Amino acid sequence: MIISVGNRKGGTGKTTTVVNLGRALSLKGKNVLLVDLDPQANLSYSYGISTEGCVLGEVLLDKHIDSGSIFYKDGLDLIPSNTDLQEYEAELIRSNAPKTALKEALEDVKDQYDFILIDCPPTASHLTVNALMASDAVLIPMLMENLSLVGFEQMIDLVFDIKTKYHSELFILGVVGVLVDERRHLTTQILEALRSNYGVDVFNNYVRQNVKAAEAPASGQSVIDYAPTSNSAKDYIAIANELLKILNQS
Ligand SMILES: Nc1ncnc2c1ncn2[C@@H]1O[C@H](COP(=O)(O)OP(=O)(O)OP(=O)(O)O)[C@@H](O)[C@H]1O
Ligand SMILES: [Mg+2]
Repeated sequence: MIISVGNRKGGTGKTTTVVNLGRALSLKGKNVLLVDLDPQANLSYSYGISTEGCVLGEVLLDKHIDSGSIFYKDGLDLIPSNTDLQEYEAELIRSNAPKTALKEALEDVKDQYDFILIDCPPTASHLTVNALMASDAVLIPMLMENLSLVGFEQMIDLVFDIKTKYHSELFILGVVGVLVDERRHLTTQILEALRSNYGVDVFNNYVRQNVKAAEAPASGQSVIDYAPTSNSAKDYIAIANELLKILNQS
């Protein structure tokens, strides 16, 4: 299954979710590929991978993935990126299949994986459109604050636009609450708005605010490896279990 992890708002734990949900799924014995589709390249950094060339940029222009494009780290595979991805995006827009390059490229490898997680940038760029076109489903990490509903709304508008115009099978897997203040938990007001106004599912498990999650990227490891007993490690393992249950894979 190919899942885009996206939200039009910045800093909502997208990359942290890809890093740690990916790792948690790999620990459940799943074959996992992570795709760094954000020119900020935070996903690659979080796994300590830095490349001179922009591996994902080349993949998008070639529309193919060869073994040299896939890096192995801590039980999972990753296609890295770097800040040059921005220039590749400009070239991609001028190419003949600007929306489906990633979809075509992933055709080469998708049968080898149980899960492919795509880390999206917080923009409605061609990169995000590529992610959605290539995906079966979308997972939206979200801060449980009123202001976050704006970015969330923009994200679902984009998803429905893609669904209506090009990809009718695309669906929203759900919202995951992140950076949740333990004293406040998920606010009922926001949960209510998500469920009744937008009809999306919200994961029962959520990610608590925890300093270990913020520290882990500098170590080049997931928080599950960096601080296995931390709340963040536990939360992401619980979310992976919930996801497998939703998909009847547990
Ligand atoms: N559970 C958590 N507890 C504390 N800090 C966290 C947690 N999850 C993420 N962070 C920190 O919050 C910041 C934003 O997280 P992250 O980079 O995952 O968001 P993002 O949505 O990918 O951002 P962008 O939109 O810039 O790509 C980062 O500094 C990250 O380390
Ligand atoms: Mg990010």
